[in-house]
Amino acid sequence: MKFKTIEWKGDRVRMLDQRRLPQEVRYLDCRGASSVAEAIRTMAIRGAPAIGVAAAMGIALAAKKARSGHPRVFTKAVERVCREMRETRPTAVNLFWAVDRMEKILGRAESDGVEETKKRLVREALQILETDIEVNRKIGMAGKTLIKEGDGVLTHCNAGALATGGYGTALGVIYAARDEGKKFQVFVDETRPMLQGSRLTAWELVQEKIPATLITDNMAGVLMKKGWVDLVVVGADRIAGNGDTANKIGTYGLAVLSKSHGVPFYVAAPTSTLDLSLVSGEEIPIEERNVEEVTHFRGHPIAPKGVKAYNPAFDVTPHSLIHGIITEKGIIRKPFHKNLQNMFSTPNSKEA
Ligand code: MRU
Repeated sequence: MKFKTIEWKGDRVRMLDQRRLPQEVRYLDCRGASSVAEAIRTMAIRGAPAIGVAAAMGIALAAKKARSGHPRVFTKAVERVCREMRETRPTAVNLFWAVDRMEKILGRAESDGVEETKKRLVREALQILETDIEVNRKIGMAGKTLIKEGDGVLTHCNAGALATGGYGTALGVIYAARDEGKKFQVFVDETRPMLQGSRLTAWELVQEKIPATLITDNMAGVLMKKGWVDLVVVGADRIAGNGDTANKIGTYGLAVLSKSHGVPFYVAAPTSTLDLSLVSGEEIPIEERNVEEVTHFRGHPIAPKGVKAYNPAFDVTPHSLIHGIITEKGIIRKPFHKNLQNMFSTPNSKEA
């Protein structure tokens, strides 16, 4: 990749400001945890794994800059930051997974001492970043066989390097197939209302010189009817124990279309996106964002004043519409409730 989504700079967290893409490649330096939280909320950084990494780095930054007084005072101060991170966005479980990991280390501050805990928190945040990149490469290796020479592959939103520590999940599958020398076509849903498809996925694919065609979300059905789409691969924000998957709004509609046109529909996600504490997707909290994202575009109105609007940022695709979940541990197939559980009891399964 020619860019870094997020970097630890010792006294600040640097991230590529995704609000400005594709017009401008500008990096944002966050010098405190609150500006990291603000960057997550306002989607300067977004995508489930990437916000997990950002939250961890924000906590590490707060810890590093905290006064080295009594461990209890230090712990209280960093706990406040953990709470602040948890309140940024509710749907992607990777955020909570990352904060949990940081809190586990924080919980040992009394016995480990403040200075040691600071170091450990920084190390943990860096580990979360590095592991995410490795995991994405494994997802790519596991999923690349699904793409055949000459295929049309459709994706929604951005589940690429920008949405992760690097490389990407759904786009990781595409990059791995490309690296094998396969030639295929990618169709990119623009992904209203925030346009992660046109602004971010199309931008990544252009950087990588992968043939891509941008479509509006309402064109996917026609493309499938024409027989141009052989495979759909999307990312995920949270996967319940039965395989129901929350992802960017519009994913559910795409899955219904895929089913009715006989197009295989796959989800690519790290195991950190699994939330086996939830029985089904009905329990996944869905973020509702400001309706101005629907009625306006970059401050310009695109709807009449006074009209009501609705803006759920995610939807849930029922497991029955999903062919498989591509993880770093291999492709999980149906029955998901059984195979997802099994995966955690067999550490190196290839195909559950
Ligand atoms: O609102 P966003 O842009 O954070 O939503 C992102 C998505 O829905 C992605 O598909 C998902 O997080 C997977 S990213 C590997």
